Amino acid sequence: MSRKIIIAIDGYSSTGKSTFAKLISDRTGYLHLDSGAVYRAVTLFALRGGWIDAENNIDQKALRSAMRQLRVSLRPDTYINEENVEGLIRQMDVSNAVSPVSAIGFVREYVDKLLRRYGKKGGIVMDGRDIGTNVFPDAQLKIFMTADAKVRAQRRYDEMIEGGKQVTFEEVMQNILDRDEKDTHREISPLRQAEDAIVLDNTDMTLEEEMVWFKDLMHTRFGIDI
Ligand code: DC
Repeated sequence: MSRKIIIAIDGYSSTGKSTFAKLISDRTGYLHLDSGAVYRAVTLFALRGGWIDAENNIDQKALRSAMRQLRVSLRPDTYINEENVEGLIRQMDVSNAVSPVSAIGFVREYVDKLLRRYGKKGGIVMDGRDIGTNVFPDAQLKIFMTADAKVRAQRRYDEMIEGGKQVTFEEVMQNILDRDEKDTHREISPLRQAEDAIVLDNTDMTLEEEMVWFKDLMHTRFGIDI
């Protein structure tokens, strides 16, 4: 592959954005960046600092000031300073608090800045909620992923059980519905489909079928064969 484009993948929670993006990265050699992981790292940092209470009220003043010392990096695992937090940021406590944290303006500014730094040279595939609409509005390829909510919950539940996590299906389903609602209705950079995005509904698709779809798209749109 000679041309280095930016591929933005947005969509609802648990539509398999990261899995799809990772596979694209394997096939193209592009760097995969999971923007949700950065929001999760900030959330873990806030929980540890005690700036989020049981009702998800956030002490924004304290968090803002503490974030001056916060260094998050994607290597590609997620790090807070020199600590690998990739496992910790996928736990339910972080999942339950990440939407309100990601709705805060100064948090979004912090994350946007970090993400744009990674995207400078192109040759990246980044997944999230506002990559094609806000972080990289000029991305050459924008994909918007969606799937039936029940199918998404089942996939996430299976993944968590396999990873040894103690959750119920209802809990996972509720978390997905809550996040869909919060992510699409927040004031700053809400989740929405960019006008020039291509929709991928993978309710009835396997990952292999998604890749065939993607390969085709790269060929017809960009003349790039992967
Ligand atoms: O992709 P994920 O489920 O790991 O993302 C976690 C949360 O982070 C998600 O509920 C909303 C937020 N997020 C966001 O607001 N903007 C992004 N670009 C990525 C994630």
